Formats: sequence, structure tokens, C-alpha cells
Amino acid sequence: MQPFVIAPSILSADFARLGEDVDRVLAAGADTVHFDVMDNHYVPNLTIGPMVCSALRKYGITAPIDVHLMVKPVDRVIGDFIEAGASYITFHPEASEHVDRSLQLIKQGGCKAGLVFNPATPLDVLKYVLDKVDMVLLMSVNPGFGGQSFIPGTLDKLREARELIDASGLPIRLQVDGGVNVKNIKAIAQAGADTFVAGSAIFNAPDYAQVISAMRAELAG
Ligand code: DX5
Ligand code: ZN
Repeated sequence: MQPFVIAPSILSADFARLGEDVDRVLAAGADTVHFDVMDNHYVPNLTIGPMVCSALRKYGITAPIDVHLMVKPVDRVIGDFIEAGASYITFHPEASEHVDRSLQLIKQGGCKAGLVFNPATPLDVLKYVLDKVDMVLLMSVNPGFGGQSFIPGTLDKLREARELIDASGLPIRLQVDGGVNVKNIKAIAQAGADTFVAGSAIFNAPDYAQVISAMRAELAG
């Protein structure tokens, strides 16, 4: 297992003061920035694109930016996010006509690549592309909105993904996204996750550092 990573989803940040809010959450102990891109086509919501990613870089954010693409088609936006300073780019296999090609596009641009699985999407394709994947992201809610409740069946799926990753011997991160909070983070880690996206649990709290340290205490305990 790799060290735990806490990745606040800026979907729940203050968009009118995004740079400052991202600075604040990183100063509060977050490791990476989870950047949710929604297109009102693949998912029923509309958020932010490469210009905002690039603006965060220009503002001075140096932490890894983990871009979660909830867009269809995928390939058209990959180059823009590479140029905008993304560190990781993850996408949903259902949203790409050619999953292997999309992964290659990301890797050729120098970014880390990942596949995202919705709650009812099987992990089948993963075994064919494991060598091209740096991160596996399991959705623990249906994508599109922050503030939803964690779907408990994700725990079994995490165990399944953890087995696949460990059997491969590759340093692939296992991320979970949706409804993660201080109360459930320990069980999620025990099921095999090493990277935790949390939006509302962190940004809706008055003291980000308090939530992030409570999460780390749960993970350490
Ligand atoms: C949902 C997004 C998540 C979401 C998580 O489609 O991918 O990243 O913002 O938010 P919370 O932690 O509030 O469930
Ligand atoms: Zn996300």
C-alpha cells in the first residue's frame, strides 16, 4: 500500500474565491486537488474546464491537480488539460470510444492516467490496460453532484480492485470518490483505498484543518 492521500474535491469550494480556497485547503493539510469536470452530457451537471485549471496554476497552486473527467467524448479535452497543468487525468471507460487510446494520449502528454468506475460498472476492462493505468477511481456515488451518500456496496468493489492491483505488483493508486467523511474513511481504507476524495465533508466545514486531521487520525488508528 502507498501512503494515504487526501484529495479535496473543489466542486464544493467557493468558486468566487477559488484560488484562495484551494490555498486554504492545501495549507490545512490536503495533499492534492481533485478537479471535477462535468459537461451536462455524460453527467447532468456543468462545472469547470481547462481554463480554470490553468488559472489555478497561474495563481501559484503547485500541488498535484487530479482532473476527474465526467465528459463525453474524452479525447478532445485531454490535450487542453495536459497544457493546463493537470497532474492526473482520469476518465470513465463508458465515455471513451477507445479506452486504450485515451490512456495513451494522457501518458504521452506526460500526465498520470486513471480509469473511473461508476457504482454499477464492472471492473472488467481494467485487466487489459493495467500497465497503462496509474490510478483506479471507484465512484461511491453516481457522478454528477457533491453531497451524496456513500454507497456501501463500494466496499466490496474496493476489495476486488485492491486484489487486482496487488496481484499486478504495479504501484497503482486506488481512489474512492463520493460521500467520504470522517466517520466512514477508516472502513474505506480497510477495504483497500489509499486515496480519498472528499468535497462537502471538507469544504462545508468551518475548519478544514480540523476535518483533515480527524481524517488522518482515523486512517492512522
Ligand atoms: C461527484 C464528484 C465528486 C464529488 C464528491 O460526481 O466526482 O468528486 O464532488 O463530493 P462529496 O465528497 O461531497 O460526495
Ligand atoms: Zn470526482
